[in-house]
Amino acid sequence: MNKDFFILGIETSCDETSVAIVKNGREVLACEIATSVPLHQETKGVVPEVAARAQIEAMIPVIKRTLNTAQVDWKDISKIAVTQGPGLMGSLLVGVCTANILSLTKNIPLVGVPHIWGHMYANLLETDFEPQFPSLVLTISGGHNDLYLWKSHGEFKKLGHTLDDAAGEAFDKCGRMIDLPYPAGPFIGKLSEQGNAKAFAFPRSMVHSRDFNFSFSGLKTAFLYKLEELRTQNSELTDQLRFDLAASLQEAIVETLWKKVEKALEIYDVKEVHLSGGVSANKRLREFFTHELAKKEKTLRFPKNIKYCTDNAAMIACAAYFCNFPEGILAPSLQSK
Ligand code: KG4
Ligand code: ZN
Repeated sequence: MNKDFFILGIETSCDETSVAIVKNGREVLACEIATSVPLHQETKGVVPEVAARAQIEAMIPVIKRTLNTAQVDWKDISKIAVTQGPGLMGSLLVGVCTANILSLTKNIPLVGVPHIWGHMYANLLETDFEPQFPSLVLTISGGHNDLYLWKSHGEFKKLGHTLDDAAGEAFDKCGRMIDLPYPAGPFIGKLSEQGNAKAFAFPRSMVHSRDFNFSFSGLKTAFLYKLEELRTQNSELTDQLRFDLAASLQEAIVETLWKKVEKALEIYDVKEVHLSGGVSANKRLREFFTHELAKKEKTLRFPKNIKYCTDNAAMIACAAYFCNFPEGILAPSLQSK
């Protein structure tokens, strides 16, 4: 009988301190996440030094909680996997230094995982399906907005990326303009449920370009101008206006993302489309893609548990199980693959 393989994952690329233990690549025995989001509410965005300080404080307690929840001992852990980059340098250093020390003192091999690969592998957590290669993966979060062709385990070809802002950043920055807390994406999703998505015609940038790149900065500007126009017409922004603004913004983002995926489907013969990253938690995005892909007889995949859409260490452990990363002592990397 094959021995079970336990990987301890560490993720600290932005404002989360997460540690997980994953058995045989997919079974999450524990995934603890401490977030410093409340510390960033006042500034309505992450302050890197504040995030890194909070991670230093959180790291040891989070490791202890993870081992305790998983009921796994250090001697059972076969590998340590840490997010190597990209991300905030101070935050990455906390995770990478911790992982280096654990690897040396516990004598456990260490691998570095690109953050985005973690997001892509999050779709396998707590599932048993085999991904159909090749497939398309749209990785959409606050910092990334990439379209990949997933050829085999550990082999991705980047088809396109954002030329400026990521979809999550557009959600967050526009949400900030209508006084939503950080991160605004989930709040926009909620407000949209009561809004009219056709109320405002926001731009769908680059949908007619021949490449697979994205741009969301024009949408942000259009949102700001619309808001200024509304504020000069009405002394206050009514609830209904906020609902309509949120729904129209969300629809513009979802349709823009879809148009690029649709274009890629004309060229690449794939059976599955994967959504990953924080924005893949968006309900409307999932509904829209499910509907459109059903018409094309393609399968949509996204993280089974909403917890695995946003940053977490289980996805890092999962990627380390399926891909062959070189082992050794690490330094953070700012390069995305
Ligand atoms: O993957 P993630 O945790 O961090 C990065 O790697 O950036 O993604 C965070 C992003 C934020 O921009 C947040 O607003 C967005 O994901 N997000 C959402 C939703 N949940 C999180 N955006 C839209 N709808 C949601 N339900
Ligand atoms: Zn992320």
